[in-house]
Amino acid sequence: MRLIAPSVLSADFLHLEQDILMLNEHADLIHLDVMDGSLVPNISFGFSVIAPIGKIASIPMDAHLMIVNPDKYFGTCADCGVEMVSFHLEAARLAGKEPSEWVERIHSLGMKAGIAINPDVPVEELFPYLKELDYVLIMTVFAGFGGQKFIEESYLRIENVRKEIDRQNAKCLIQIDGGATKANASAIFTAGADILVAGSAVFKDVDPAGAIRALRQA
Ligand code: DX5
Ligand code: ZN
Repeated sequence: MRLIAPSVLSADFLHLEQDILMLNEHADLIHLDVMDGSLVPNISFGFSVIAPIGKIASIPMDAHLMIVNPDKYFGTCADCGVEMVSFHLEAARLAGKEPSEWVERIHSLGMKAGIAINPDVPVEELFPYLKELDYVLIMTVFAGFGGQKFIEESYLRIENVRKEIDRQNAKCLIQIDGGATKANASAIFTAGADILVAGSAVFKDVDPAGAIRALRQA
């Protein structure tokens, strides 16, 4: 599967409606990066921005919660019409919570559940959850900012997760996030990714719709 999820973090916030309507036409998912300045060193936007996006989005919204205590907001995600929610494994560990309970809660709200990990978390830590997850989010830069350089070691991490998903015969998809470009998209998909998140590669391109097409056909 090759899905493109442009990250709104790099969109034009003065003309957000225009960008969302473009994504409705050309993208597969709308990736929404929620940052709290605590789990990650940056603050982005919250539900006062996601709710109006939900009113005009005609493709699924995918919320990437880079916040502590993300479980406080699963219900709000559902209320905004979000279809996919990922939280960081690091956030569950910090809260001393069992990730599977959060996954169950997301499912009980009718959404798809993903667990995200930063590049310094061994991918093996995702393995116990692959059977229950709809997707894993393998960060290919450290979470917090758009426009960073793809970490080359990520290919091996994607391949290892792919092998384990196949070994467990799990249905879990692999989403990657950070530093994806037209130049590396083909290698990322070949390593085993299903969903490619792309911020700068889409919105900083002179032709964002063309960039989405190019990433999908890489
Ligand atoms: C970073 C965010 C990403 C970011 C990706 O923490 O999770 O979704 O927007 O941006 P690019 O594609 O520019 O690396
Ligand atoms: Zn993201």
